[in-house]
Amino acid sequence: MYDFDTAPDRLETSSTKWSRYPADVLPMWIADTDFAVAPAIVSALRRRLDHPILGYAVAKGALRDQIVADLDRRFRWQISPDDIVFLPGVEPGFNMALKARLTPGEKVLIQTPMYRPILDAPGHWGLEPLQVPLVRGEQGYGLDRDALAAKLTEARAFLLCNPHNPTGYVYTRDDLAFIAAACEAADTLIVSDEIHCDLVFDGRPHVPIASLAPEIAKRTITLMSASKTYNIPGLKTGFAIITDRDLRNAFNTARGGMVDSVNLMGLEGTLAAYRDAGPWREALLDYLQENRDHLGRELQRLIPGIRYHPPEASFLAWLDCSALELKQTPHAFFLREAKLGLYAGEVFGAGYEAFVRLNFGCTRSTLTNAVERMAVALSRRIGS
Ligand SMILES: Cc1ncc(COP(=O)(O)O)c(C=O)c1O
Repeated sequence: MYDFDTAPDRLETSSTKWSRYPADVLPMWIADTDFAVAPAIVSALRRRLDHPILGYAVAKGALRDQIVADLDRRFRWQISPDDIVFLPGVEPGFNMALKARLTPGEKVLIQTPMYRPILDAPGHWGLEPLQVPLVRGEQGYGLDRDALAAKLTEARAFLLCNPHNPTGYVYTRDDLAFIAAACEAADTLIVSDEIHCDLVFDGRPHVPIASLAPEIAKRTITLMSASKTYNIPGLKTGFAIITDRDLRNAFNTARGGMVDSVNLMGLEGTLAAYRDAGPWREALLDYLQENRDHLGRELQRLIPGIRYHPPEASFLAWLDCSALELKQTPHAFFLREAKLGLYAGEVFGAGYEAFVRLNFGCTRSTLTNAVERMAVALSRRIGS
């Protein structure tokens, strides 16, 4: 019903992803997808343009009600419409959260490797990041609970990313209960970036950490957006859910002078996404899951030296290239030799120089082409 095998040409569309590299490089780095937006969203945006005024915007009650209903239906999490604070993105949201509650010198726990703007956020507010790596086993990623519990006693905030970028790890209810209990014991603020939560594979549940119990919600700022799933990140709209009134007031105070009203078209697009594009999301999820598995098969067939744990969510693959024994980073190697623009592992933290992140939110044939380019480059290498 929806055609994810055909991708519109994105050159000359002001796309960040497609502007960074020369035209002969296939870009697979920043986290947006190459799929045309759901027809329901395009129609809603067109309809809005029939009215010729694009003034400052506030969210309609219908959007708040839609989010409340979706959270209840999908995650059995009950919130009220006033708990939602609209934002020009999730990144401003986690920065505002830190600014709202912490004072310079305090520590923020982060699980590495990590999406760069989260790694950088503490530094913007004079805070110190405390990094605890995720552990990797044969089956994939997981928590080092002892290290986490020990570090949490020092941290004033836990900046959680669930589903996790870049590994695609989806925290289990048990993981989250452990984290929540440790944060309760240490009286730590939880800032939970759940931007990838609508793209969880294999029928696995996503559990918002704040949904575990009202007392956990009280210490949590949850951040969500339709942007990743529905491919509308250029509309710059996200939202925080903060059930505790004092915490919400502090968060709103932190926006002062920097984060004002939200993008009008982003609000329209978000409502259309959640209200009208559910079947599109489900079709996309199937396509991405098949892409994920296709990538696994192609890597196994052509480049078995790359270690790959299939992600449990979203469209990002975290590839360990250390066994390839390249003389430069895999990012530099594949850029030069395969004309492939991957995301460099070192961006996600020190010690990840031998990794790259590959965005498989593209057509299957593009994905096949990418792995073939990598395999050909490896087969040609002399001294790289
Ligand atoms: C985990 C995570 N959080 C936040 C963002 C950015 O969100 P926004 O564009 O809404 O600021 C991204 C984008 O890749 C992301 O992966």
